[in-house]
Amino acid sequence: GDHRDLHSFPTRRSSDLKNGRKAETANGSVLNEKPMAGATCKSIFSKRKRGIITMKKKLAVMALAAATLSMMAMPVYADDLVTVGYAQVGHESDWRTANTQNYQDVFSEDAGYSLDLVDCDNDNAAQLEAVRTFISKDMDYIVIAPIQSAGWDTVLQEAQDAGIPVIIADREIEASDDLYDAWVGTNTTNEGITAGNWLAEYLGDKDANILVIEGSVGASAALGRTEGFNQVAGEHDNWKILDSQSGDFTQAGGQEVMESFIKSYEGQFNVVICQNDNEAYGAMDAMDAAGITYGVDGDVTLISFDATHDGLQYTLDGKINCDVECNPIQAEVVKGVIEKMQAGEEFEKTTLVEDQAFVAPGIESEYATTMTDEVLAGRAY
Ligand code: AHR
Repeated sequence: GDHRDLHSFPTRRSSDLKNGRKAETANGSVLNEKPMAGATCKSIFSKRKRGIITMKKKLAVMALAAATLSMMAMPVYADDLVTVGYAQVGHESDWRTANTQNYQDVFSEDAGYSLDLVDCDNDNAAQLEAVRTFISKDMDYIVIAPIQSAGWDTVLQEAQDAGIPVIIADREIEASDDLYDAWVGTNTTNEGITAGNWLAEYLGDKDANILVIEGSVGASAALGRTEGFNQVAGEHDNWKILDSQSGDFTQAGGQEVMESFIKSYEGQFNVVICQNDNEAYGAMDAMDAAGITYGVDGDVTLISFDATHDGLQYTLDGKINCDVECNPIQAEVVKGVIEKMQAGEEFEKTTLVEDQAFVAPGIESEYATTMTDEVLAGRAY
């Protein structure tokens, strides 16, 4: 893929947004198409009623009745909540669960947001439909964590035609950056490079016979990690990638792929790379069942990605040798971009969420932090 240079941060003004729609929203009230909750509806009604009844005129009471009737038939202009639609990938991993929770915490009603988060269950067509639904609901902002990197041009054009700002989050897309307003996420190619650099440092001159359990097919998180790792692997004549298959970023997928790898390559591999923690858990189960040892005291060096709490626990326990972080805590950054758009201020076109890597106790690395109880205690997700 054609990866953008994530280190250049050009800024855009919100006046670049189509139709000046955000300015309108900032000055006026937001149309909430959902029916209003009974309590809120009642309180507006009684406020009106009190004001008019003081006139003590029969005519006024009749006018009130008419106004009330017509009010009930009209769409309700509710609070000044900013509406945000988030087309979430799914719930395939612990990383994803943490990311969903982070959006729900940050885009709360208390913070002034109405978040419509759609779990697209890793189904590309469902995700396109979710975005189209956000457009038809005239959401103020649309955030997309793209399941697949390809195929976004048409729906992004539709959002742009509707004047709705779009923020691509977490993963990357293969589309002109004119078609969306901002991007917030991690550099997964760098994550793959970090895994490769760490492995080179760890193995020294030893041969590597490598099996890769990739993430979901067509996802930039999988494409980037593969590309980054392969760059480093290409510099080592004594590294061989025996096989590389998708485990779909799930534990069940990781286990299934590892079981089939064991059938084909038992006794031939000494490195397993799982492109997320959940796949690593599945691969560990498969290796346990086959009596294959892994981790710092085992025959197989195990590399994972994400560095979630459980992944880091396994790293602290020496079962995972190296866990390269992908940070799911991104909603605050997205909110910061939206706030600037709302205020008509300059905002970052591209914001990179920083990652680091962690290694098991006993390993010292220039590329990674050695795990301790304190590091684990600091990891909430
Ligand atoms: O896009 C981020 C990736 O998606 C995470 O590595 C993985 O766990 C998730 O499913």
